[in-house]
Amino acid sequence: MSLPKIIQSSLGLGVLLLSTSSAFAAPAPIPPAATVCTSCHMPTGMGLPNMAPMIAGKNADYLTHQIDLFIAGERNDPLMTPMASLIADPQKKAEAINYFASLSAPEIKNPEHRGDHVIITGPARKLVYQGDWNRNIPACSTCHGASGIGVQDFPRLANQHPDYLEEQLKAWKNKTRSGDHNDVMGSIARQLTDTEISQLSHYFATVK
Ligand code: HEC
Ligand code: HEC
Repeated sequence: MSLPKIIQSSLGLGVLLLSTSSAFAAPAPIPPAATVCTSCHMPTGMGLPNMAPMIAGKNADYLTHQIDLFIAGERNDPLMTPMASLIADPQKKAEAINYFASLSAPEIKNPEHRGDHVIITGPARKLVYQGDWNRNIPACSTCHGASGIGVQDFPRLANQHPDYLEEQLKAWKNKTRSGDHNDVMGSIARQLTDTEISQLSHYFATVK
């Protein structure tokens, strides 16, 4: 092959490579403040079971508020508390949070809305879509959205690791997690039995 031909064909290849790679959305580069977070929450923000929760795609205001709660000691965790202090600086905090908030969480194909079914038999699904008025427990989906996919700063529960959900509900029950507006989750969690907490956590973790 003559030199001009080689140049021409490699140029062509370059254009081809460029156009194929731009056909896929390149993953956003991880900003410096978020690098340390990825060892537990993973670069995808999906977290690891029994290690760290999924934070991908959660609302930025919600995530920021949680970092502030760890710094203030209203939430406590031996792994996460020191990490929150690392990003106490507002600019670093925004950089790390915006990265995870921009990632997408698995799509829920057919979200189930409150009122979709009149008769619900499973005890966990009853609490999720109907609540329990005898105990002043509103349906979880009223705030957390259809199938628990989250609405603004009402966090997503769908597909979250079950051990994490269970620990959080128990933390409110035992008063080791606080700082939620008007103690709304505290007053709900204190009404739930440990069996219900376990059933609810598994329900949300396996929503498809
Ligand atoms: C060593 C592991 C580890 C690292 C590194 C880590 N985290 Fe966490 N993170 C956790 C654990 C464990 C929890 C759950 C704590 C609990 O049970 O209260 C958590 C919880 C969170 C939450 C609360 C999630 C929610 O839904 O309420 C946010 C937000 C968060 N981490 C952000 C970050 C950011 C940002 C960084 C990097 C600066 C980071 N984490 C680094 C382990 C880690
Ligand atoms: C009135 C509104 C409301 C209802 C009803 C409600 N929640 Fe929540 N929930 C919240 C808010 C607000 C938060 C975030 C609290 C914070 O900012 O710390 C939350 C947070 C949570 C979290 C922690 C998520 C995380 O990522 O750390 C769990 C678990 C949870 N709720 C479970 C439930 C379950 C189960 C039900 C039904 C039995 C329920 N919630 C009903 C408002 C509600």
